Amino acid sequence: MRKNIVAGNWKMNKNLQEGLDLVKDLQTALFNKKVKCDVIVCMPFVHLASVNGMIDKTKVKLGAQNCADKASGAYTGEVSAEMVASTGAKYVILGHSERRAYYGETNAILKEKVQLALANNLTPIFCIGEVLAERESGKQNAVVKKQIEEGLFDLSVEDFGKVVLAYEPVWAIGTGKTATSAQAQEMHAFIRQTLAAKYGQAAADATSILYGGSCNAGNAKELFTNPDVDGGLIGGASLKVDTFIPIVEAF
Ligand code: PGA
Repeated sequence: MRKNIVAGNWKMNKNLQEGLDLVKDLQTALFNKKVKCDVIVCMPFVHLASVNGMIDKTKVKLGAQNCADKASGAYTGEVSAEMVASTGAKYVILGHSERRAYYGETNAILKEKVQLALANNLTPIFCIGEVLAERESGKQNAVVKKQIEEGLFDLSVEDFGKVVLAYEPVWAIGTGKTATSAQAQEMHAFIRQTLAAKYGQAAADATSILYGGSCNAGNAKELFTNPDVDGGLIGGASLKVDTFIPIVEAF
């Protein structure tokens, strides 16, 4: 039913040639391999069109890391969901904690982005997660619930069915400090319960919920074995074939 997914988030790394080389090497590494999950690479906007021209979409799918909260017009420097889709990309990461923290992206802004992404046939990979202080004070469930409610819960059940979620505890991102397998499962089960209460159990069961935050070759298998963890959103370890492919193979 729901898909297992391993998605790379390159963040602001790799120039165009380096990006093309990495995708080429990933495809070579995946050639003739029986992969049991969808593999997505989310890269800077400027790479998308070129990578789309050389990518084998049966092996690797293409995604962006952001899109504008407006459809078009006088928004200098912004890139619309329609523009992203026109490159051939099929996915877009929205609401990453770095965007929330450094670029002031609120749930209200993200709600607009999600709708524009869906209107342009992009699959949002919608990120949620608490900061360390929130976890230490036991507020993680409330924080995550509010992010989901305010960012996604105005969607119809049909549109909601097109969304992928990524739980990324902010304290685990880029820190080498992964959530334990039990912490991940507990939160993912809570997220699924929250989705079921709004959209029904069938819709919740059909939603892929990825874990992100220092996921690597060493811990991926244990994390992905959890019943409610449907894959990973991978930052640092997605930048090299040798560190990314073993995560794909964890399924
Ligand atoms: P990390 O990043 O794997 O480097 O912790 C994950 C993310 O931010 O998506």
